[in-house]
Amino acid sequence: MLREEPLIFERNPARRTRGGFRLPPADVDDVEPTEVLPADLVRASLNELPDLGELDVVQHFHRLSQLNFAVDEGLYPLGSCTMKYNPRINEQAARLPGFTRIHPLQPVSQVQGALRLMWELSEALRSITGMAAVTLQPAAGAHGELTGMLMIRKALEARGEHRDQVLVPDSAHGTNPATAAFAGFQAVEIVSAKDGTVDLAALDRMMTDRVAGLMLTVPNTLGVFEHRILEIADLVHTRGGLLYLDGANLNAFVGRALPGAMGADALHINLHKTFSTPHGGGGPGAGPVTVSEVLKPYLPVPRVVKNESGFGLQWDDESSIGPMRGFYANFLVLVRALAFIRSLGPDGLREMSEVAVLYANLVRHRLRSAYHLKYDAPSMHEVVFDDSLQAEQGVHNVDIAKRLLDYGFHPPTMSFPLIVHGALMIEPSESASPEEVEAFCEAMLELAREAQEHPERLLEAPHETPVGRLDEVRAARQPVLRWRPGGPAES
Ligand SMILES: Cc1ncc(COP(=O)(O)O)c(C=O)c1O
Repeated sequence: MLREEPLIFERNPARRTRGGFRLPPADVDDVEPTEVLPADLVRASLNELPDLGELDVVQHFHRLSQLNFAVDEGLYPLGSCTMKYNPRINEQAARLPGFTRIHPLQPVSQVQGALRLMWELSEALRSITGMAAVTLQPAAGAHGELTGMLMIRKALEARGEHRDQVLVPDSAHGTNPATAAFAGFQAVEIVSAKDGTVDLAALDRMMTDRVAGLMLTVPNTLGVFEHRILEIADLVHTRGGLLYLDGANLNAFVGRALPGAMGADALHINLHKTFSTPHGGGGPGAGPVTVSEVLKPYLPVPRVVKNESGFGLQWDDESSIGPMRGFYANFLVLVRALAFIRSLGPDGLREMSEVAVLYANLVRHRLRSAYHLKYDAPSMHEVVFDDSLQAEQGVHNVDIAKRLLDYGFHPPTMSFPLIVHGALMIEPSESASPEEVEAFCEAMLELAREAQEHPERLLEAPHETPVGRLDEVRAARQPVLRWRPGGPAES
């Protein structure tokens, strides 16, 4: 049941009657707020505060929560984001008071359990990736990229080399070239080969002595595995460069292949994708970086170490790139990741990846007659269609995405990777049941039929959601971020 309702601030009755709290008498003298606080921070009146009962507040926010789509509601096939189910046991673990009630400035003797958890997670990630060492500090995938690229820069400087370029395939996630630039390099694009993988001949031409390395996503954002990864790594290394692997898509091959054996020098892992964590809305996340022996000396400090008396933090290391954030990591994301890894175990993790790949291939197979596939290689974890067949009727990827909401599914990722015009990037992940994946395919096939026979249904979609189609350009350019009483909305 849906109803139009005002913001909670707008539900302020003219006469304040409810008073939500009663404080005991103070045992200190009253102080005028203006005597102890800057005048501009002191409210002249409380009339702008909502005056509601507790149940009104609970119902208001509960109703708002129903207006959104969530992983707990249905298939959320947002490609590249790996929107998998977040098992409740992870949430229980992350809420244990022993984890939530500690402070990062406590002496290490009092937080041995937390340090042990970080140590054990690092060891687990080391064996999952086959790399030499790990830092858990980065707060997201992009932050992991920056950490890795700064280590690469420092390693090259230590060799006395000043290479100023980084190669990035044209299929890469936008964070890759942005990171290269942020780390002080010039990002140089390599055009992909016809099958969507790295063009070895182009790499051979471009891998000059100005190039610090290659940032490569495996499997790439088309869901295609770089089947010549060993040749690629070899070429980069022979020319004196280092290989950065973007591991955001690690969900596709956990337990099946080791980035360490592929020749990676650095690899970030989006814990909030592969190892679950509610991460819609921009956080929280964690982007640990695993490195080869070559980059080990440059890992950020502090590092969690194990010694005779237990676990500790090592701060001093001249070769380190230094701390990458305040304190140690988004700790509770680490708790969730270890809970996920431990509850699945090695066999479960391998099966997770196998099912994720199986589902992506099922979707590719079921939808290929209705949607165009620019790169028709076997899929790993995701498959990228485009809207060119529907565009003949004036229907574009955004219309398909909006109409899919009427069928109860979250839309796929749109318009990425950039090398697929009108892209629809579908990543079912392993979480859903086969029936749910099949229901999604049926909905997509029905949409393709509608696009041919009743394109207007898609062009005007969504029809069933609480809010219809928005002016997305205006929403992006003039977002209303703050409500002001009676005043103009602020952007
Ligand atoms: C391939 C790829 N690389 C990097 C990132 C950046 O990760 P994050 O969003 O955690 O910063 C993403 C995020 O979606 C991604 O899909």
